[in-house]
Amino acid sequence: MNPPLLQRLSGKTAIVTGGGSGIGQAVALRFASEGAEVIVFELRPEAAEETVGKIQSLGGAARAIGGDMADTDSVRSAFAQVDRVDILVNNAGIAHVGTVLTTTTQDLDRLYAVNVRGVYHGLHFGVARMVAQGGGAILNMASIASKVGIADRFAYSMTKGAVLTMTLSVARDFVDKGIRCNCICPARVHTPFVDGFLDKNYPDNRDEMFAKLSAAQPIGRMGRPEEVASLAAFLCSDEAAFITGAAYDLDGGFTLLR
Ligand SMILES: NC(=O)c1ccc[n+]([C@@H]2O[C@H](COP(=O)([O-])OP(=O)(O)OC[C@H]3O[C@@H](n4cnc5c(N)ncnc54)[C@H](O)[C@@H]3O)[C@@H](O)[C@H]2O)c1
Repeated sequence: MNPPLLQRLSGKTAIVTGGGSGIGQAVALRFASEGAEVIVFELRPEAAEETVGKIQSLGGAARAIGGDMADTDSVRSAFAQVDRVDILVNNAGIAHVGTVLTTTTQDLDRLYAVNVRGVYHGLHFGVARMVAQGGGAILNMASIASKVGIADRFAYSMTKGAVLTMTLSVARDFVDKGIRCNCICPARVHTPFVDGFLDKNYPDNRDEMFAKLSAAQPIGRMGRPEEVASLAAFLCSDEAAFITGAAYDLDGGFTLLR
């Protein structure tokens, strides 16, 4: 592993959900580079192994656990396989495009199952462990859709609004237990999530849509997963000891400069 600039997470164990791709993979790599042992929790075991392989090849410590955040027993079993939980990053999430008129009950329930129930599961089992250990840091991956009306994202916005308010609830309830809970609200970040979205919804005018999505941020481009990981490492480190119940815009100016 390259000599890291910072070692703020040495001795800590961090669970990163959805750590096999995009933002979650960048967070896992960054946390490992700062000295954490990283548990990569993933629906797709092969993706988790890829992240673990990258970390280990750089000299870091990581382990993969396969499972589904939407499933209570799966998440309970994952937490039972981990000795300590100093840091939890609830990152796993899925997308959906549609207005309230084109969103079906099935779409709504599918988004809820992963993005809301899944985050609840992480918080439910993670907070219990942190209370028993005397504290910890939690970071939830929210979105600009938590704060701003985004076109054609009814179900997704519903879930990301809930991620923001679950963050506040946990931060409030466990502030006296040494647990900090924050969230990051990214605008568009260039990950496989975005590539999949473009492939599926705009196969004929992909490049045009990529340019449009980039221009939506006043800074003129999409974010990079590493930029989210950098803020995540700070928020989960003791340098951020006075920060809890915060929702950080990481959005190239999208929320406040339009
Ligand atoms: N990329 C963006 O533009 C953007 C913007 C704002 C917020 N976010 C949020 O950031 C998070 C990560 O996004 P990304 O772009 O890196 O996505 P991604 O699709 O590249 O990665 C998500 C990972 O989560 C895993 N996953 C999905 N469902 C799961 C489940 N039920 N249990 C366990 N793992 C599961 C997937 O297998 C995948 O590896 C999501 O919560 C997303 O809503 C993304």
